[in-house]
Amino acid sequence: SNEFSGNLPDFSPEFTSLFSLDFSSNNFSGKIPRSFRYLSSVTVLRLFSNYLTGPAFPEFITNLTRLTHYELGYNLFDPSEIPTTIEKLSILEVVWLTESNLTGKIPESLCTLQSLKSFDVATNSLSGEIPKCIGNLTNLWELELFDNKFSGELPENLGKLKNLYLFDASQNNLTGMLPESLAALQLGSLNLNDNLLRGNIPAILAENKNLYQLKLFNNSFSGELPANLGSKSILNEFDVSTNNFSGEFPTTLCSGKQLWQIITFNNRFSSKFPEIYGNCSSLSYVRISNSNFSGEFPQNFWNLPHLDTADLQDNHFEGTLPPIISNSFNLSRLLISGNNFSGNLPSEICGLKKLIELYLGENRFTGELPSCITELKGLQKLELQGNMFSGEFPMNVSSWVQLTDLNVSRNRFSGEIPSQLGELPVLNYLDLSDNLFSGEIPEELTKLKLNEFNLSNNQLEGQVPPGFNNKYCVDGLSGNPRLCSSNLKSFPSCPKPIPVSFLVSFLSVLGFVLMSSISLLCITKVQTDGEFKKRRHPFKMVSFQRGGFSEQEIFSRLTEENVIGSGGSGRVYRVTLNSGHVIAVKKLWGGEDKNMDMGLLFKSEVETLGSVRHGNIVKLLFSCIGEGFRALGYEYMENGSLGDVLHGEKGGEILDWSRRFAIALGAAQGLAYLHHDCVPAIIHRDVKSNNILLDDKFLPRIADFGLAKPMIKPRGMEDGESAEAMSRIAGSYGYIAPEYGYTLKVTEKSDVYSFGVVLIELVTGKRPNDASFGENMDIVKWMTEVVLQSHEFDQAKQLIDPRMYPDTCNYKQIKKVIEIAILCTSASPANRPTMRRVVDMLKDQVTLTVDTK
Ligand SMILES: *[C@@H]1O[C@H](CO)[C@@H](O)[C@H](O)[C@H]1NC(C)=O
Ligand SMILES: *[C@@H]1O[C@H](CO)[C@@H](O)[C@H](O)[C@H]1NC(C)=O
Ligand SMILES: *[C@@H]1O[C@H](CO)[C@@H](O)[C@H](O)[C@H]1NC(C)=O
Ligand SMILES: *[C@@H]1O[C@H](CO)[C@@H](O)[C@H](O)[C@H]1NC(C)=O
Repeated sequence: SNEFSGNLPDFSPEFTSLFSLDFSSNNFSGKIPRSFRYLSSVTVLRLFSNYLTGPAFPEFITNLTRLTHYELGYNLFDPSEIPTTIEKLSILEVVWLTESNLTGKIPESLCTLQSLKSFDVATNSLSGEIPKCIGNLTNLWELELFDNKFSGELPENLGKLKNLYLFDASQNNLTGMLPESLAALQLGSLNLNDNLLRGNIPAILAENKNLYQLKLFNNSFSGELPANLGSKSILNEFDVSTNNFSGEFPTTLCSGKQLWQIITFNNRFSSKFPEIYGNCSSLSYVRISNSNFSGEFPQNFWNLPHLDTADLQDNHFEGTLPPIISNSFNLSRLLISGNNFSGNLPSEICGLKKLIELYLGENRFTGELPSCITELKGLQKLELQGNMFSGEFPMNVSSWVQLTDLNVSRNRFSGEIPSQLGELPVLNYLDLSDNLFSGEIPEELTKLKLNEFNLSNNQLEGQVPPGFNNKYCVDGLSGNPRLCSSNLKSFPSCPKPIPVSFLVSFLSVLGFVLMSSISLLCITKVQTDGEFKKRRHPFKMVSFQRGGFSEQEIFSRLTEENVIGSGGSGRVYRVTLNSGHVIAVKKLWGGEDKNMDMGLLFKSEVETLGSVRHGNIVKLLFSCIGEGFRALGYEYMENGSLGDVLHGEKGGEILDWSRRFAIALGAAQGLAYLHHDCVPAIIHRDVKSNNILLDDKFLPRIADFGLAKPMIKPRGMEDGESAEAMSRIAGSYGYIAPEYGYTLKVTEKSDVYSFGVVLIELVTGKRPNDASFGENMDIVKWMTEVVLQSHEFDQAKQLIDPRMYPDTCNYKQIKKVIEIAILCTSASPANRPTMRRVVDMLKDQVTLTVDTK
């Protein structure tokens, strides 16, 4: 138990008297030295918990015939077998080789080791059957075979091991039944979980006087459990979950008064949950969900002082939650959904200060919620759905700072929705649907970042708050006939709409004071003259930012001489407004419904960009649909796209390393914002240097959201693992993540890959598909190869864009950016960091620059 490292020491031939050698729990590495063969008197050899390699049984070991203790578990041994020559170690008592990379079968010769008391080979890759002859090891007290690949049946012969006390064969592929002979042993612990065992549990198990731990879960055992199980011993832990047990549930498990765990979920008992467990005051962890229990649930169960988890979900229990529940003051999980519990929720529940999860859904609870329920400050999940709760919902919910899930749907709650819900910092699941909530939707709710949002089927009225004014919220707002909205088609429009032209001039007078930070979203129909005079139909213009310009001044200037770019999707114009401001206008080919693809690009850009505000994402100023055309207005970016600047003539000189680094960091922040701060998150799907625009200070803004897609994350998924299949081809050649080729699935990790390519571009100054990489090579493979082949960083300097010389480069920082780029372009999406992590890593580099200065 030190931190000695390096190889184990060699012994010279004189060490013939050494009888005990203990190097355990150190940092030794390398093989067991051959010189250990001289230790002819050694009886105790303890090398466990080191970093030893080589075989677990070196050939010469079997010459150390005095060995009684061979304790070498927890090392990094090479895969090796237990040699048949182990029989030479005939006085072995203890073999401890947990997690030692053992393979192959247990040799029959092991059965000759008559002195063996403890044989522990857990967590290895041993296979084949447990040898029948093992019954010869009559001194065996402990047999640990768990977490291997043993198959076949449990040998009947195990029943000969009259001294066996600990037996664990869990997590194997064992088949067949539990032999009567084994069940008859006086075991303290019997663990057979996670196998393929079936049949009844022999009644004789109930005669056991030692049994304190019984784990039979995840098998296919069936029939009734022995009636008196546990009656003769002091049972502590009992887990029979996920089997096919049926019939009566034993009443004697707690006879020894030390039972703390009962786990039965996923079985088919057809009985009550015995009353007597209400007296089992040692109980703390009870999970009996989905076990087909029925009848009145024992009242005094709610009096248990140590109870921590009570999961009774999905049975047929009846009864109430009585006031004495306050005596279970340690309860952190009270999960009783899916039963027939009824009555009021007693205010005594507010005394359970450790409650984290309270699931009462799908029962028959009635009455009001005790208002003190907001005193449960540790509550993370509150589920009350599918009951008959009524009255107002408590208003002062701001104490629920840990609440992530609130589901009260399908009840009869009335009154207003508490606006304080909007202040809850981690709430992300909110379902208030199918109640009688009335009044307006509190604007505060729009601050939440929700995975699930449902206010449908209530009696809400008034205007839909701006933050919910998008199609992703429509479903969650339906069934409230008195709601109105300025732009959602499924709702009647609100009274007194204010035309944008009026609003703009009105606000100009006010100097935009009020609107400075509020986004303005209005639709107006304007009849224009000038170029558009001839058109029969008016066009629609939607403004996303504060105004200050008119349609006419924009459209009259979409002329040839103002074209600054042209591409497959349309043309980009540079328009100087009357105010002197310069904006960029992209006019897409094809008008409404004439060209589906353009329509989709347009829609996608408007939907995503219209609501996004971030310093590293280009601002959409307005969108406009006219007859035969669509147009989008953006802030104008002085320096064009990163791709043009970088690969243009002067790229190297203009973009020195510090500018390139600032571009990398800014673009990363923009993407991180899209992935992690937008709700729903947005995947850009076409990250490339041509879609990163540079402002007058060469700071980046991410642009072109034509392929972007908001992503509704499946519930329960963490950042970074959400996936959404996309139907349209995403991305640009050279930037597309490899998984797209075989899954057509795009996740935010695909953006991370594309961003990694941009990083490489920034470092190398090369285009992703530069011909110099050769056939079958892209910029990622090329760079990875150069880096792998360069032992010294100096050699990797050949990667760096020569146009940055003799710039005062910070090589350390560039090296770090290369490392980040390699991470981002990992072949496996799971190995790529999230954009948030990328930002952190890049920011560390900012500090590093400062430090080295
Ligand atoms: C020993 O190994 C532990 C665990 O890997 C590590 O934390 C510790 O630093 C090592 N000590 C030495 C001296 O190598
Ligand atoms: C084991 O001991 C025998 C007899 O002492 C010797 O001949 C043999 O070489 C030893 N084997 C190993 C592998 O050291
Ligand atoms: C309550 O729970 C805590 C830990 O959660 C534990 O340490 C304590 O012993 C428990 N108290 C009782 C009475 O069970
Ligand atoms: C909202 O709740 C209603 C009623 O409970 C349900 O029918 C609907 O599917 C839910 N909508 C969403 C988007 O979850």
